[in-house]
Amino acid sequence: AQQVPDILSPEFAANPYPAYRAMREHAPLIWHEATNSYLISRYRDVERAFKDKDSLYTTDNYAWQIEPVHGKTILQLSGREHAVRRALVAPAFRGRDLQEKFLPVIESNARELIDGIRHKGEADLVDSFATRFPVNVIADMLGLDKADHARFHGWYTTVIAFLGNLAGDPDVTAAGERTRIEFAEYMIPIIQERREHLGDDLLSSLCAAEVDGVRMSDEDIKAFCSLLLAAGGETTDKAIASIFANLLVNPEQLAAVREDRSLIDRAFAETLRYTPPVHMIMRQTATEVTVSGGTIPAGATVTCLIGAANRDAERYKDPDRFDIFRDDLTSTTAFSAAADHLAFALGRHFCVGALLAKAEVETGVNQLLDAMPDMRLADGFVPSEQGVFTRGPQSLPVRFTPVDA
Ligand code: HEM
Repeated sequence: AQQVPDILSPEFAANPYPAYRAMREHAPLIWHEATNSYLISRYRDVERAFKDKDSLYTTDNYAWQIEPVHGKTILQLSGREHAVRRALVAPAFRGRDLQEKFLPVIESNARELIDGIRHKGEADLVDSFATRFPVNVIADMLGLDKADHARFHGWYTTVIAFLGNLAGDPDVTAAGERTRIEFAEYMIPIIQERREHLGDDLLSSLCAAEVDGVRMSDEDIKAFCSLLLAAGGETTDKAIASIFANLLVNPEQLAAVREDRSLIDRAFAETLRYTPPVHMIMRQTATEVTVSGGTIPAGATVTCLIGAANRDAERYKDPDRFDIFRDDLTSTTAFSAAADHLAFALGRHFCVGALLAKAEVETGVNQLLDAMPDMRLADGFVPSEQGVFTRGPQSLPVRFTPVDA
């Protein structure tokens, strides 16, 4: 009988990839008592769950998972209600809004953070850049006061701790629930005020959006903003840390990207395949579902292991190798990246912020490479990843020749 991997054990947290491989090869469907869910790990099974062409899966289970910290968000909606909400929020994350309104915000936030470190000659890219940049961008996109960025960052920290709390630490749960209240007390008056004085920011777009006579309530908008802390903050934070970790330990690939910046796209797609920021996404079965290895009953929670599926040898040649030149990577845009890996999910909940994330990563990588032409890992430092639900390097100390801003 196959040993059930303990995804809550320190060994799994240190390196989940051997367990992922064992699952894909020998136990592609496992009942996992501790998370009360079925684990699926093969690319084709996870892809099918996300695409959900046959309406076998729902996102109902998100209620208990994220409602205590965010309230009801787009992730918990399904069917027509989801389609309308998606149409309300999506335009703000692409096209003219992204290019004209938000690209300058992304560029100036990257510059500001880099100006704070470029004269130092050494920096931790995670602490001084990756964990700050995407959250600051979201706060600025929403049109929040600069003076509130530190509070916004604090909420970000408690929200992601809540979501990553697979082991159920009660203090972390309580802090997350407190954040939901504080965040609402902060956001709702701002939303109400913004409705009276619409501007050019994301919050104004959300307030003004109307589709088929439907508009979002104050609570809907607040929940969406709260979701952005995790969905848009932590994910992009980890993507930036991981792209640098992957390139810094593969200096010839870093040199190629430095030389030809159009390769950032490939480096981003390969990073999302090889080291996805989100390793686990939950779904619930609407009916009985047959997958590799057996049958899942109706109404069960299914943990889709993105980190495992993205290294499936049935899908990728030499899957455990980071290679931005691999020929089974085709994407040049974040949307076609859907064909390359499962890091943004697929189907109706496909990441609404994929293009924004791509713009942030491109800008961040370009500006950091420009500011630090000889960036290298601190002597002897070997990057390692942390986290089970979401995953990425916790620190990335680098050295470079200092330059004055
Ligand atoms: C959805 C990953 C960046 C906003 C998702 C989902 C994944 C994901 C896996 C699907 C969740 C599910 O189906 O349950 C990522 C990764 C990112 C990233 C890896 C960075 C590299 C962003 C950014 C934003 C964002 C920058 C916005 C600021 C959202 C929203 C959804 C979502 C609102 C829900 C969409 C829906 O339910 O229709 N993302 N995301 N994400 N993402 Fe992202």
